[in-house]
Amino acid sequence: MPIQQLCTIVEAKRLNEYAYAFTLEVGDMVRRHGLRAGQFLHIQCGHSRLLRRPLSVSLCGADAPQDTASIVFEVRGEGTAWLYRRKAGDTLDVLGPLGNGFRVDREDRLLLVGGGIGVPPLLGQAGFTRGRSTAVLGFRSADRAMLVDRFQEFCQAVFLCSDDGTLGRHGFVDAQLRDVLEKDKNFTAVLACGPKPMLKNVAKVAAEYGVPCQVSLEERMACGVGACLGCAVQMADGTMKHVCKDGPVFDAQEVDWNV
Ligand SMILES: Cc1cc2nc3c(=O)[nH]c(=O)nc-3n(C[C@H](O)[C@H](O)[C@H](O)COP(=O)(O)OP(=O)(O)OC[C@H]3O[C@@H](n4cnc5c(N)ncnc54)[C@H](O)[C@@H]3O)c2cc1C
Ligand code: FES
Repeated sequence: MPIQQLCTIVEAKRLNEYAYAFTLEVGDMVRRHGLRAGQFLHIQCGHSRLLRRPLSVSLCGADAPQDTASIVFEVRGEGTAWLYRRKAGDTLDVLGPLGNGFRVDREDRLLLVGGGIGVPPLLGQAGFTRGRSTAVLGFRSADRAMLVDRFQEFCQAVFLCSDDGTLGRHGFVDAQLRDVLEKDKNFTAVLACGPKPMLKNVAKVAAEYGVPCQVSLEERMACGVGACLGCAVQMADGTMKHVCKDGPVFDAQEVDWNV
């Protein structure tokens, strides 16, 4: 059951020219309400009630006396522009935990595939399966890279790609994913987060190699709790599901990738 509360920003960091990371004190959301990385928080960005914005949890901790959760965001419009001007010590009006998050076990050997601002929500899965998982991280260019050192700390191997060749392999993450799976198919699951065309390609490659794939979808949201139909997506069986309530994580084969 989500709760609404004021959360203090305990740390505000700039990760690169475009991305910011906040660590929030979230009361007892982790210990009592089971908040996990990959779920999201609906954060009021500004003073208008219309400006609640969904941001994924990157890492969270059952810290005493207050639990903590990290979010990472890029400035896209009015809401995130308001958010990046907040400082440590400021409070945010937060609704959460929301969404389902990835299904993972500590013993899993995961292949984590992130693109751009889709990279941070996978960090918690890397930490949870510490030393067992592999990450394929893609960025538009080297100056947009983020959290690479944290993935290197948590993962068995980290492969980097960039669209313009300024970091790691020149090209998209699905080509790197194919190379990893060609050598080693012994992964419990592929978990992917990023733009929809990337997710579609990742889902296709995972299916080719017979590895189950979970994808975290993004849709524009309003209420965030399944009440407004604003975030409905088409499923392969012809039904519609809500990204906010039924997702944001879905089995890749559930999704209709052709709409
Ligand atoms: C479940 C979920 C988790 C998310 N997690 C993160 C995260 O961890 N970090 C992060 O930076 N962003 C995340 N997003 C996207 C983030 O919510 C939007 O960037 C934000 O709402 C934009 O608000 P704004 O007021 O700044 O921009 P607006 O003025 O509302 O929009 C600016 C531009 O961004 C586009 N946009 C807005 N919302 C979305 C969206 N949901 N998906 C795609 N395009 C959008 C608009 O079409 C417009 O072009 C997430 C979205 C969802 C649904
Ligand atoms: S945002 Fe309202 S139903 Fe999902």
